[in-house]
Amino acid sequence: MPGSPPELPIVVLDALMPTSQRMVLDRRGSTVWEVESHRGHYAVKVGYPIEATAEWAAQPWTALAPAREGAVLLRLGLVDLAYGEWERGTWNFQPWHEGPDLYQLWEPCRRPDSSIAPHTSVALGCVEALAELHAKGWAHGDVQPAHFIIGPERTHLIDLALAQGGNVPEGYDFPFRGCLVHYEAPEIARSVLDTGEAEPTQEADVYALGASLLISATGWRAMEYPDDAPRSVQREAVADGRRRLVKAPGELGELIDAMLSHAPGDRPTIFEVGKALS
Ligand SMILES: Nc1ncnc2c1ncn2[C@@H]1O[C@H](COP(=O)(O)OP(=O)(O)O)[C@@H](O)[C@H]1O
Ligand SMILES: [Mg+2]
Repeated sequence: MPGSPPELPIVVLDALMPTSQRMVLDRRGSTVWEVESHRGHYAVKVGYPIEATAEWAAQPWTALAPAREGAVLLRLGLVDLAYGEWERGTWNFQPWHEGPDLYQLWEPCRRPDSSIAPHTSVALGCVEALAELHAKGWAHGDVQPAHFIIGPERTHLIDLALAQGGNVPEGYDFPFRGCLVHYEAPEIARSVLDTGEAEPTQEADVYALGASLLISATGWRAMEYPDDAPRSVQREAVADGRRRLVKAPGELGELIDAMLSHAPGDRPTIFEVGKALS
């Protein structure tokens, strides 16, 4: 892929002196490595700008995302991390969290004729991770199944690059332009359609968690739209609230429905969701 870094930037190698390293993910604008070093076990994220193509406009913000996330993590009180710049963008390292993500963990629930029900305790772990962030006055902005890592001790909510709730250095900041449409609340989709930007909110996070639990438990998206439709058409369907009539099994079903309420004010807070589950 043009532009993607083939190896870790030298500044990161100098900072961590890895004893082993493995590329975990390499997609447009972002590369993630798992790194072991004498200092500890880390996820390293390296960002670079996305060049314009025939289908895509240039996206310079992907270069800033790792530093923005690093600044957010510091604000939230994490100390075992660092971030900075390399030739083409920014990087950060943060503690590595071992475990499957929510979508992987609930794969058996999605098999045809599966009798395996999604575990309430797993849902509660995700709720607690998001509640911790909300209690500090932040909104995540990019809640999705891949961002919940279900560890042996607790569940971690990762990828805080788009989070909002406190100051981040101006040079690393960029506007929020929505998230993955499957998890985007109607009011966010509407705002992105109208203005190209939106404001992450805790209410939209609750919606996104509801959509994440639903898709992980059933394989179905919350809203009805064709997979291959252009993003703006998908956003229209979400903004209009074209809910698909699919329910998660058990007590989760009703709760997820409430989390997916069209009006932000009708959704339970994350603390209310936690109470309902415990
Ligand atoms: N702290 C972490 N611990 C474990 N895995 C991580 C961590 N951070 C990222 N990852 C892995 O890398 C993937 C992409 O990371 P993410 O933070 O979502 O970056 P991006 O900005 O590219 O979406 C995650 O889905 C996860 O598999
Ligand atoms: Mg991500």
